Amino acid sequence: MTLQFALNHTDPAALATDCIVVGVFTDGPLSASGETLDRASNGRLRALVARGDLSGNAGRSALLHDIAGIAAPRVLAIGLGEAAKFGVPQYLRAIGEGVRALKSGASKSALCTLTELDVPGRDANWNVRQAVIAADHAAYRYTQNITRKSDAGLETLHMTAPAAQQAALDTGIGIAAGIAYTRDLGNLPPNICNPAYLAERARQLASEHAAVTCEVLERAEMEQLGMGSLLAVSRGSANPPKLIVLKYDGGGDAKPFVFVGKGITFDSGGLNLKVQGGIEEMKFDMLGAASVLGTFHTAASLKLPINVVCIVPAVENMADGDAYRPSDVLTSMAGKTIEVLNTDAEGRLILCDALTYAQRFEPQALVDVATLTGACVVALGKVAHGLMSKHDDLSSELLGAGEHVYDRAWRLPLWDEYQTQLESAFADFANIGGKYAGAITAGCFLSRFTEGQRWAHLDIAGTSWDEGKKGLASGRPVGMLCQWLLDRAGAA
Ligand code: BES
Ligand code: MN
Ligand code: ZN
Repeated sequence: MTLQFALNHTDPAALATDCIVVGVFTDGPLSASGETLDRASNGRLRALVARGDLSGNAGRSALLHDIAGIAAPRVLAIGLGEAAKFGVPQYLRAIGEGVRALKSGASKSALCTLTELDVPGRDANWNVRQAVIAADHAAYRYTQNITRKSDAGLETLHMTAPAAQQAALDTGIGIAAGIAYTRDLGNLPPNICNPAYLAERARQLASEHAAVTCEVLERAEMEQLGMGSLLAVSRGSANPPKLIVLKYDGGGDAKPFVFVGKGITFDSGGLNLKVQGGIEEMKFDMLGAASVLGTFHTAASLKLPINVVCIVPAVENMADGDAYRPSDVLTSMAGKTIEVLNTDAEGRLILCDALTYAQRFEPQALVDVATLTGACVVALGKVAHGLMSKHDDLSSELLGAGEHVYDRAWRLPLWDEYQTQLESAFADFANIGGKYAGAITAGCFLSRFTEGQRWAHLDIAGTSWDEGKKGLASGRPVGMLCQWLLDRAGAA
């Protein structure tokens, strides 16, 4: 069950809700709602702070019961740390903590008053929109294929804000839905979420929105187009490849924003088979696809006044008697030949043909998103997406969007000096560039198929899912991409 959101601008002390979430600084004054609750309860809140029950330290929270004078039976106090150090990450973290604490408790409804806090550099619309996104993220549960019923918990979250913030609330809901869509797709196991399944889900998107159309290219059509690189990767799998093309028409004659997402539904490495300690996470190798689909979902449901095309090469990379081999030479749709030196560098081999295909839509910007390299995780960890582009303006648009919503990317260079690492004696170039700068040489490979395009590449290998046995898809970089589209649509 998904969390429902609504605004509240009535007296928190009188509100009939199961819990009121209020922020407390270690120093500093109480927030407006904190002040109201303190007065209504005859100074109980301040007394609890003075007694040390509400420390205000970041990461600390306290659930208080039955405070006389406050209609709600519970008050959840969230520590915000020092007032002078309060900013975007502290705000988002506090919202998440509040929701996690209530996620499976007795409260069915709650009022989050944190939205009234002053976040430096941000406005009231941002506060509400990002609160919805952060709260929905924290409330997320993966339930598909789990037969045990999860405990009931929070169902409705009210946010303190005037009615003027309703549009921001709705935008937040639309973005949160795109993020949850991406996470659900990513978390599915690869025996269910295969190329045909992704195609089916894309068709479903088209059936839900009048302005969306979907086309799925089958193997025979890809053969006709000469997609020798993409098709080589698919050869080892019993699951046939699909090339998914979704179009959202909200912007009349304007040129579209075109996304391409890596849709390897399972990456075994192929004949360069991966080993334990890596291979079991490779169901997530379609998170580029899932995140462009999630972003597309949001663009269509918010009815943004732009055109968007979403292209997903959906392929499984397996080892088999018919699988492609290291040393094979492939001819891509663009006519360039590629020497395969490692079948585990398959992402770029499906993306290059999809990027060539994308150019028929005459994009005003072309952005690919891919869990492309372990090297990107080494360079940037699980914090920043790797951004590669030769276009400074497009780069700063994307970096700025990520900064604004705290879904941040960091730029790596695509200088010509790196291109030499791809040289081959047996084809136009090779699919790997040796042991140095692996994220960049992967970007260099793609750059050879996007000449003349306003193109950027996002490597999300580190950021798109959380570490460990229970690590879930993070939904990143949907937040950043949605912000970028909102900025383009002039609806920030
Ligand atoms: N899907 C992987 C990249 C990856 C690795 C993502 C770990 C997330 C975590 C990609 O297909 C791959 O295997 N890349 C190779 C490239 C190498 C053979 C040049 C890699 O990074 O090791
Ligand atoms: Mn691989
Ligand atoms: Zn891969």
